Amino acid sequence: MGRCVLLIFTFMVLSVGLERGRTSDGGGAGTSGEAPMDKAEKEALYSAIRGFVGDWWNGSYLYPDPCGFTPIQGVSCDLFGGQWYVTSLNIGPVHENSLNCSAKPLFSSQLFDFKHLKSLSFFNCFVYDRQTLPPDSYWDGLSGSLESLEIRTNPGLTGGIPSSFGRLLGLWSLVIIENGLNGTVPTNLGDLAGLKRLVLAGNRFTGPIPNSFGGLTKLLILDMSSNSLSGPLPPSIGSMASLLKLDLSNNMLHGDLPSDLGNLRSLTLLDLRNNSFSGGLIPSLHMMKSLEELALSRNPIGGDIGVLDWQKLKGLAVLDLSGMGLTGEIPEAFSQLEKIRFLGLSDNILSGALPPKLETLPCLSALYVNGNNLSGEIKFSSGFYDRMGWRFGAWDNPNLCYPAADLGPNGSRMPHRVRPCGHEEEKEVVKDPSISGGKGLGADGGDSGGNSHFLPILGFSSNGADGFQCSNFWVHVLLLAVVSSFLE
Ligand SMILES: *[C@@H]1O[C@H](CO)[C@@H](O)[C@H](O)[C@H]1NC(C)=O
Ligand SMILES: *[C@@H]1O[C@H](CO)[C@@H](O)[C@H](O)[C@H]1NC(C)=O
Ligand SMILES: *[C@@H]1O[C@H](CO)[C@@H](O)[C@H](O)[C@H]1NC(C)=O
Ligand SMILES: *[C@@H]1O[C@H](CO)[C@@H](O)[C@H](O)[C@H]1NC(C)=O
Ligand SMILES: *[C@@H]1O[C@H](CO)[C@@H](O)[C@H](O)[C@H]1NC(C)=O
Ligand SMILES: *[C@@H]1O[C@H](CO)[C@@H](O)[C@H](O)[C@H]1NC(C)=O
Repeated sequence: MGRCVLLIFTFMVLSVGLERGRTSDGGGAGTSGEAPMDKAEKEALYSAIRGFVGDWWNGSYLYPDPCGFTPIQGVSCDLFGGQWYVTSLNIGPVHENSLNCSAKPLFSSQLFDFKHLKSLSFFNCFVYDRQTLPPDSYWDGLSGSLESLEIRTNPGLTGGIPSSFGRLLGLWSLVIIENGLNGTVPTNLGDLAGLKRLVLAGNRFTGPIPNSFGGLTKLLILDMSSNSLSGPLPPSIGSMASLLKLDLSNNMLHGDLPSDLGNLRSLTLLDLRNNSFSGGLIPSLHMMKSLEELALSRNPIGGDIGVLDWQKLKGLAVLDLSGMGLTGEIPEAFSQLEKIRFLGLSDNILSGALPPKLETLPCLSALYVNGNNLSGEIKFSSGFYDRMGWRFGAWDNPNLCYPAADLGPNGSRMPHRVRPCGHEEEKEVVKDPSISGGKGLGADGGDSGGNSHFLPILGFSSNGADGFQCSNFWVHVLLLAVVSSFLE
């Protein structure tokens, strides 16, 4: 754990360093005497910013040389044909001295006059006032240059995504996250063939995922979680062959899982939690050999848990299959998933025994099998209960018991709310009054992290699980973080 925090810290220091480097390049202090800023460009900059921060802001007075001696926080410039142009504009309280938006921010039409704008972002800008994004025709002004567009945490922004976004053909990153935007997802976003990251999470989008998204063959990250999307997964989803992360959790998607999902051989994260998918697990899932996190919980998928060759998913670190109506026995193959940290099987209809071999998994730090129909004796060693503590949940299995001989001197070494064998009359032994009323940890064990996928994992301590394979997992997390940073 400590090592991981250190790695992430190092990574943050590195990325801050890179950020600094980039800003001062753009600022180019001292060079502005030799190279002037295009006059129309300068006026556009002042006017665009004044729209967001308010009429009190006098750019020509405060920042007479915005690409030179008096750089503006959040603005970067570059030289084109011997003159300075704005290449990046970031509005919102990112840094201490960032440009903050007024209570009634406006999109100035000059925002769309920049000749070489590559990156545009609004963070926490449209908060109180209801606003829509500027209409279609405006955005076409940026279609020749814009590479990254980010609209983050603007609860006041409503209305739809302008369909001209589908003509910003230079985009490789489109991030529209946690705003109040609604309407359907424009089909022509599927024309943005150069996209590497598409995030539309946490808005109020409705309707289907366009089948045209199959054209996004360079996409690495697709996150449309926490909207109200409906309809089935488009069959074309299997064409997004480069995908590393696919998150469609917390929507109202339904229908069968398409077998083409199995074509996504590079996928490391598949999160479909809390939808209405049905029709059983599909064997092609085990072809996704790169999977590290698979979360399908809270879908009425049903069917037998054993239809996949689970041992083929060797990279799995998180497997969340709770609340899916799954039947059958817990597959022995799970005990070959050597990197697994979180195994959530709660609230299904699983029967049979709890395989004692699960105890041998070197990285396992949370196991939830509560709310099933498991039976017989739990055959884990007492050391296992010590190691897992509350992160082992086996309650609400009426026919499951533990051998009373395993009870430690203080009653500490026992699975919580499981009865000792031979005490058939007692339905449930509640030793700890603090847990008797609650839902229990397992009920939402894997989901407490909301939007962040790594939160559930970071939540576990890695005590007793410090093998080489477990630390390897953190290397993967770091690599993924590095990949994400190149997308910034
Ligand atoms: C900005 O300040 C300059 C110099 O003080 C002044 O001439 C100009 O009228 C001001 N512009 C606005 C829009 O207030
Ligand atoms: C912008 O807002 C942030 C947070 O509200 C604040 O810390 C910062 O000082 C503000 N910046 C300016 C230039 O007013
Ligand atoms: C989007 O939300 C706004 C404001 O709540 C509403 O007026 C509009 O009808 C909604 N549009 C769609 C397509 O749902
Ligand atoms: C499940 O998804 C719906 C949206 O479809 C959302 O309203 C709800 O809060 C989600 N539930 C949880 C527990 O996240
Ligand atoms: C639970 O398992 C028992 C066998 O242990 C079986 O008789 C019973 O039908 C199962 N109940 C359900 C709801 O599947
Ligand atoms: C039992 O409780 C005592 C005192 O609270 C503690 O010192 C001891 O470690 C406990 N034993 C076990 C096995 O938990």
